[in-house]
Amino acid sequence: MLSDIATINAFLPSDRSEWERLWSSYLTFYNTSLDQDVYNSTWTQIISGLGPVYAIALREKNQQDTVVGFAHYLLQHSAWTVGKICYLQDLFIAPTHRRRGYASVLIHAVAEKAQQHHCEKLYWLTHEDNIGARILYNSIAKFNGFVRYDYNLG
Ligand SMILES: CC(C)(COP(=O)(O)OP(=O)(O)OC[C@H]1O[C@@H](n2cnc3c(N)ncnc32)[C@H](O)[C@@H]1OP(=O)(O)O)[C@@H](O)C(=O)NCCC(=O)NCCS
Repeated sequence: MLSDIATINAFLPSDRSEWERLWSSYLTFYNTSLDQDVYNSTWTQIISGLGPVYAIALREKNQQDTVVGFAHYLLQHSAWTVGKICYLQDLFIAPTHRRRGYASVLIHAVAEKAQQHHCEKLYWLTHEDNIGARILYNSIAKFNGFVRYDYNLG
């Protein structure tokens, strides 16, 4: 049972360095980096539990409850719904802990949070070349054909 080896819960203030290490690995995976003020702002929102950025930590029990994965999500208003919708913005599992079902567990945990907040939709984006992630996503969600554009605001 996955619940025997991993737990899902909120980040604690003492998790800052582990979150920062994983978040930085995730950004490296996407060949990017962020200024420290973004780390500070995002962490402050996560720890407040008040959003708009929320997070879930995945800890491995036999690793002294070390955080080995995380999901960041946002609850958003939408012109398409009366209730809010949930955007799963970031999902990361430490390379040494992959293919154990942890990402699937995190996605389902975000779905539960979305339901608790009465969200009407849960969605996320990924790069078209992210083959591993897409195999996972195709198995649990539906690809509707939308593509994303980024306008340069300067
Ligand atoms: C994508 C990612 C989150 C998957 O995490 P994970 O915990 O290894 O995924 P799971 O163990 O839950 O995978 C479940 C299933 O998805 C598929 N899958 C996941 N990763 C895969 C890969 N690299 N190649 C092929 N299939 C993969 C498999 O079918 C897998 O089941 P199996 O291991 O029994 O074959 C992880 O590889 C990661 O953090 N990658 C870097 C960051 C990233 O891409 N994040 C997502 C951005 S949108």
